Amino acid sequence: MKKTILCIAWLFSLVLCSSSNAQVTTNEVTLDLSKAKYKISRNIYGHFSEHLGHCIYGGFWVGEDSKIPNVRGIRTDVVDAMKRIKAPVLRWPGGCFADEYHWKDGIGPRSTRPSMVNTNWGGVTEDNSFGTHEFLDLCQQIGCEPFITGNLGSGTVQEMSQWVEYVNSDNISPITEQRKKNGRDKSWGVTFWGIGNESWGCGGDMKPDYYSDVALRYGSFLKNYGSNRIKKIAVGPHDDYYDWTNVVMRQMGNSIWGLSLHYYTWCNDIHATDVTEKNWYSTLQKTLRMEELIERHSAIMDQYDPGKSVALVVDEWGAWYAVEPGTNPAFLFQQNTLRDALVAGINLNIFNNHCNRVKMAAVAQAVNVLQSVILTDGDKMVLTPTYDVFDMYKVHQDAVLIPTSLHTDSISIQGGKIPALSVSSSIDKDGKIHVTICNLSTIKDEMLSCGFKSFAVQSVSGRILTSDQLNADNTFENPDNVRIKAFGGFKTSAHTVEVTLPKHSVVALELTGISEVKAPIVDVAKLKHGLVFKYYEGNWQRLPDFSEMKPLRSGTVTSLVYPEGTAELNFGLAFGGYIKIEADGMYDFFLTSDDGSRLTIDNEEAILNDGLHAMVEVSGSVFLKKGYHAIGVSFFQAGGGSGLKLMMQAPGKEKMPVSDEMLFYQAEK
Ligand code: AHR
Repeated sequence: MKKTILCIAWLFSLVLCSSSNAQVTTNEVTLDLSKAKYKISRNIYGHFSEHLGHCIYGGFWVGEDSKIPNVRGIRTDVVDAMKRIKAPVLRWPGGCFADEYHWKDGIGPRSTRPSMVNTNWGGVTEDNSFGTHEFLDLCQQIGCEPFITGNLGSGTVQEMSQWVEYVNSDNISPITEQRKKNGRDKSWGVTFWGIGNESWGCGGDMKPDYYSDVALRYGSFLKNYGSNRIKKIAVGPHDDYYDWTNVVMRQMGNSIWGLSLHYYTWCNDIHATDVTEKNWYSTLQKTLRMEELIERHSAIMDQYDPGKSVALVVDEWGAWYAVEPGTNPAFLFQQNTLRDALVAGINLNIFNNHCNRVKMAAVAQAVNVLQSVILTDGDKMVLTPTYDVFDMYKVHQDAVLIPTSLHTDSISIQGGKIPALSVSSSIDKDGKIHVTICNLSTIKDEMLSCGFKSFAVQSVSGRILTSDQLNADNTFENPDNVRIKAFGGFKTSAHTVEVTLPKHSVVALELTGISEVKAPIVDVAKLKHGLVFKYYEGNWQRLPDFSEMKPLRSGTVTSLVYPEGTAELNFGLAFGGYIKIEADGMYDFFLTSDDGSRLTIDNEEAILNDGLHAMVEVSGSVFLKKGYHAIGVSFFQAGGGSGLKLMMQAPGKEKMPVSDEMLFYQAEK
């Protein structure tokens, strides 16, 4: 038996050695700027804060009387650190805590707020000194959007509905009077509201059909006040609970903004700082599973929402290890090492690459809990290696994804293979390209040849996060042990950058250059103001392929309006022509329709807003050169309401309707 174990161990080490002795392989990635289409929502870089351990108390909140520098009780060092990584959104108050939280206990004078027992997280007394006002103050200090999760598990419809009213209404009512008495005149206007948390588990042990019924009922009492439009986020699946996604999308897909997904890199048999070559790879292998989960849940969502208007919100992700020895097991406090930097880099690359479906995410959790970006101890604060990854990757926020096709070496590990590299790339509003790359290997530097299409490289600069030690961490005694450094390991030519990626590293490259995406050649002399249209009648549930159909009529219109004689119901329109673009840059388009619609720019789909629905806005971004670009809008109306509207936002300008002056068609003569 002992012999067999030794033999297996020897074989395993051979497998690892074989990759260490192998020649440095060249990996290749192609980045085609002309294919850049989807915006990476800044909200992918979100955070999660729960009343758990020392995330809120000691982490964000120290109280006004604390000696630790604070503004109205909120730690200044932590706020400043969150600002530096441009934290865009913060989820609160849980987690499991959310389904036991009664918001009314957390408002009014602190001395009169009742206490409760935090049954999920150690049975500690929660004195409610951090409540709605404090959380919204925290978000304002950070400059991020709040995301509030309501209590569906043990609360009432009235309670959740009144929370929205308290936070969002400027009407005169007993609830808003109470808010004013508590020191806040104007509503805050919170957009993101979660309808429960993990309702299949700690949030009520429900089945998906039952959850959908209950959540639809709760959701219908979350009202819009003033101009604020609530974005409801339904409880989604964990891991591979595909049936949950299927049922909830079928029942609620039409009435939610987002569906959550919780997936942790589950390693609670080891401590965060126990890093061996073997558990390094098994941790990263588990992390890489995120890609498959997103793809499969998204494919199910596509059945009900092919236009991808419902966001997949990965609002709990990160590595979950055994707690640090000597700490309260219910407080989920863990250190954070270089391995976690890789976990973060891989996850964020995956989210970027799926940004047409993943529109928000939140690492669990911001401070002192699980894979934190910040650790505190009294007045001391440490920024973890995960923090540095958020810092390196913040350049992707609201940039446009450049799809990458990566051919990479693979690493043989026990039980399979994993890719050696993980990559994502985007172009920002100033035309700079950012490429973030993780080298997963513990033993081998990797060469990556980045080939750029439609972009001529002028300059490259780089930053790197790595260390000689796989388990390197930042401690209160040695807070800057693992920190971002300048990186120059690349060679540049006009359309290629050859990078040598040190083993176990995260690298971010910034490139300046010239976009070679061409505006189509158009015979301007033949252009006239307006659009051509083709008119159809029929009964559709989804956009048909109008090009395969004979129109009932055709002609020209001044802009995107229904031509004269359009029926009230059950018709389709296909508009075509050119849009004049005044300057090179990234343009956001917003297509609102009742029912389905599609926008194409230069014959590529830019927005799909398909299906039967009320007026729903879907946006898309395209990098355009100055000049004339082909534009196409197809649309169908079925049953009830009707409407079609196209707006755009040019770089540095306000969002505005696409005006008649910008639209042209090619006259025959
Ligand atoms: O993040 C810790 C816990 O993990 C959350 O409270 C819960 O939603 C999840 O199970």
